Amino acid sequence: MTDNALPGAAPASPRGVALAARGVTKRFPGVVANADVDFELRQGEVHTLLGENGAGKSTLAAMLCGLYQPDEGQIFRLGQAIRLRSPREGLAHGIGMVHQHFRLIPRFTVAENVVLGDPQQSFIMKPSEAEDRVAQISERFGLPIDPRAVVSDLTVGQRQRVEIVKVLYRGADVLLLDEPTAVLTPPGSQRSVRHRPVDDQRRQGGRLHQPQAR
Ligand SMILES: Nc1ncnc2c1ncn2[C@@H]1O[C@H](COP(=O)(O)OP(=O)(O)OP(=O)(O)O)[C@@H](O)[C@H]1O
Ligand SMILES: [Mg+2]
Repeated sequence: MTDNALPGAAPASPRGVALAARGVTKRFPGVVANADVDFELRQGEVHTLLGENGAGKSTLAAMLCGLYQPDEGQIFRLGQAIRLRSPREGLAHGIGMVHQHFRLIPRFTVAENVVLGDPQQSFIMKPSEAEDRVAQISERFGLPIDPRAVVSDLTVGQRQRVEIVKVLYRGADVLLLDEPTAVLTPPGSQRSVRHRPVDDQRRQGGRLHQPQAR
């Protein structure tokens, strides 16, 4: 976590703050997507970011998880200025994002999708081991999913659960969800992210973060 902390940067954000943005600006050709944004997430908090289409919600979340880099301003993790050059670096800092458009491989199983591409895996994991690990996360976070199911057989709500499990599997304790309810029916959205994963973590002092729901 210290390897890409900015050298010599004074902690401008207190250590109890899980994640913060200070004066963050992001420009795309012809548009300022985020202008001088401040944001602060404390441990156990759940935030919802509201704004009309094009307001810059996804862009902010993308900077917080390492997908985009700010043109100005800084991101702080536990009080330390960090520079995230990729989502992989974001995950190394415990920050994970679930995107609006899923990135699962339909013909692979749930467990294969979760384990696939994990930078911690330097060897091929046995399917049974991957399934056990996925089952543990599913149980711990109250996200019921069959690790052996093939993703193409799952409903949209179940696929979203797989994406969340995938991020949790990589150790994220700050979870950014981009429009998590947009793809779900109302009952599905109630079940999916509003209840157990977030509430359980709050009770346990976790830091799951929901930046955007409509
Ligand atoms: N990769 C990109 N290249 C160029 N412009 C972009 C890019 N990503 C976002 N923008 C622009 O930045 C602005 C903010 O977009 P962003 O997607 O962050 O908004 P949003 O609040 O997430 O909108 P929505 O509710 O539609 O998802 C928009 O004007 C958008 O067109
Ligand atoms: Mg968006």
